[in-house]
Amino acid sequence: MARMTRPVPQSTRRDFLKLGACAGAAGLGAFAVKADGTPATPATPASKPLDPDLSAVVSDLHVGQLWNEQKFRTDRSYDYINGVVRRLVAEILSMKVLPSYVFGLGDISMCYGEERDYEIAAEILRPLEEAGIKIVMTAGNHDRRSPMARHLGGWLGESPVAGRFASVTHLPRFDMVLLDSLKEPDPSAEDNRAGRGGCELGAEQSKWLDSLLAETTRPTLVCAHHTAWSLGINKQMVKSPRVCGFLHGHNHSWQDNILFSSYGRKTMIRMLGMPSMGMDRDIGYALLRAFDDRLELVHVERDYYFPVQTTKAERLPIWDAVVRERHGRRVFFPFDKLA
Ligand SMILES: [Fe+2]
Repeated sequence: MARMTRPVPQSTRRDFLKLGACAGAAGLGAFAVKADGTPATPATPASKPLDPDLSAVVSDLHVGQLWNEQKFRTDRSYDYINGVVRRLVAEILSMKVLPSYVFGLGDISMCYGEERDYEIAAEILRPLEEAGIKIVMTAGNHDRRSPMARHLGGWLGESPVAGRFASVTHLPRFDMVLLDSLKEPDPSAEDNRAGRGGCELGAEQSKWLDSLLAETTRPTLVCAHHTAWSLGINKQMVKSPRVCGFLHGHNHSWQDNILFSSYGRKTMIRMLGMPSMGMDRDIGYALLRAFDDRLELVHVERDYYFPVQTTKAERLPIWDAVVRERHGRRVFFPFDKLA
């Protein structure tokens, strides 16, 4: 029997409205923050209610320690990035009703997958877990699996694919699939630092994805660090009767695309690029709400900047225009194709 679509709880609507009210704020001025980048408000106590139909999606945190090329940044230094991510974590924790899950779409590390990057990431994200929110993440091209597993191992899901951080999370109304699209560099390469490898699913993960989509009867949102185009699975995503959409990171930009299998076919899905949580270009995260017949994803945009060739004194007017335009954008992922 079909269930009735459940209305958004009032508290969550207010949270959405509150987020929207900040849309006109220039950059990160809306945040209460101490000089050292830590949030002025303490971490949220664990007593807040969790909404089983609400998740947050974050990507491209790029937190960690100084890296060599940091000198190209002027005012946007590594402590700035870490501070932004801390503030956004605090913002999520300030919601009256918390999301049950935070899904991370890779590029946790600042640049090269350093051990210290993941130590810092664990410290910054731990308040979410302490508030009762479950964290599930996958890797991006700037990650390295070994140090990531050492420090964030509890947040990588139960991977059915050896050597990968793939996972399926069963939420009340849909399944969330995180693919691991990281291709680590050849260890023998002259420059084998993280970020030099690229993307791939690999044969075993592709086979697992094929069988998963063939067998599942649930609406499924598929996510990876890289786009479905980059991974060569865009037509597979569209043709699968259970896949309602695709989320990716990597581009640090709020990108709204529609995938279709061929020009003459009507079957299509949305593919959404997520902002970076702290590094550059679109800065923010997304809130994902599940209904009986669809998912709704709302973009929370807190800043836009591009650090190259800027100085502390420069803040381009177009950056604030982008924040105003993109904050609060809402995208629907209907389950219609499942009918
Ligand atoms: Fe990235």
